[in-house]
Amino acid sequence: LKLGNFETCFSEAQLIPTLNLCFLGFGNVNRTLVQLLENRAAELRERYSIEYRVTGIASRRLGWIADPNGLDLKGRDFSRAAQDSWQDAALAADVKGWLSAARADVLFEATSLNVENGQPAVDHIRAALEHGAHVITANKGPIVHAYRELRDLAAHKGKHFLFESTVMDGVPIFSLFDQLPTIHLQGFHGILNSTTNVILSEMENGLTFEDALKKAREIGVAETDATHDIDGWDAAVKTAALITVLMDVPIRLDQIAREGIRDLTPQAVRTAKRDGWPFKLVCRAKRTATGVKASVGPEKVLSTQPMAKVTGTSSYIYFETDIFPGLAITEENPGLYATAYGMLADFVRATKSDMT
Ligand SMILES: NC(=O)c1ccc[n+]([C@@H]2O[C@H](COP(=O)([O-])OP(=O)(O)OC[C@H]3O[C@@H](n4cnc5c(N)ncnc54)[C@H](OP(=O)(O)O)[C@@H]3O)[C@@H](O)[C@H]2O)c1
Repeated sequence: LKLGNFETCFSEAQLIPTLNLCFLGFGNVNRTLVQLLENRAAELRERYSIEYRVTGIASRRLGWIADPNGLDLKGRDFSRAAQDSWQDAALAADVKGWLSAARADVLFEATSLNVENGQPAVDHIRAALEHGAHVITANKGPIVHAYRELRDLAAHKGKHFLFESTVMDGVPIFSLFDQLPTIHLQGFHGILNSTTNVILSEMENGLTFEDALKKAREIGVAETDATHDIDGWDAAVKTAALITVLMDVPIRLDQIAREGIRDLTPQAVRTAKRDGWPFKLVCRAKRTATGVKASVGPEKVLSTQPMAKVTGTSSYIYFETDIFPGLAITEENPGLYATAYGMLADFVRATKSDMT
């Protein structure tokens, strides 16, 4: 009997290796993800046979914190003001040293968006894949600027490079198309930027532009640099990510006609709403004979149309495919947990396929 018990424990321990998780960028998204993982730890273990510990946390201010035995997160204050509480931790010199010191199995990358070239996230992701870790990112920059290279590197290394949270938070947009073999995406339109949608909704409710932006910041949806949202960059990057991955057409940001909401006055926004044609920041893409035509810009949308009903942090996408002429998804008022959830779902997808 004793031997039997011993064997059972031994085989269970063998079946559930403890994965070392590293978090690069420790702002809204990755902090929320750490909490969500903690909330779901028992379910991950019991239902998905996933055990983990956090062995690395890094940001510009924190430095490259690593402990291969696991960082003790209990009692840590996760608020932005409490970065000092990590000062007792061991620091690596750079990303390669950090991944190695933390013995990283999975990197969760959630640093700020760099619309110009996706750096330094592209280099960090490349380093993690080279190291032999799966990479899960919420950052759109590397998808737009280095998707094919990173996808191919991941495949070469037998690792996953997943990015479900980059567009529509945790909604399975990219993995949806994994379930639709041979389908051809002809185009799409939608509302993909929460910050501008919150600003437009709040201006309709009577707030000034500045107070509406403040509200978007309080909710935690605004980009680190909110001009990325207001001037349509974030929406354009998401549009480019969808075109690059789902339509298999690499597109540069300067090929997307882009206009933000900066020039819309509260008066114009309220009048449009009152007249039954509220303003929305609409993303569009359409396959053409030579590639894809794409745009981002404010449009007046008839109030009976689905897009007109998308308010606050909600988002919406309508896909046109050769099989399903119209396939729409609405995401109602997601919070940061939705973004974190997309990364958690990617984590389960990556590790499950390791086990099969
Ligand atoms: N918030 C959302 O709802 C949401 C939704 C989907 C996707 N995303 C994407 O997720 C990413 C993170 O968003 P967030 O809201 O968590 O942003 P955030 O709160 O501003 O946090 C960004 C984090 O990245 C770190 N960072 C920035 N540049 C870095 C660099 N060069 N090297 C190392 N660390 C760096 C920052 O550290 P320091 O403060 O030390 O500089 C901070 O810890 C962005 O790419 C965003 O587009 C966000």
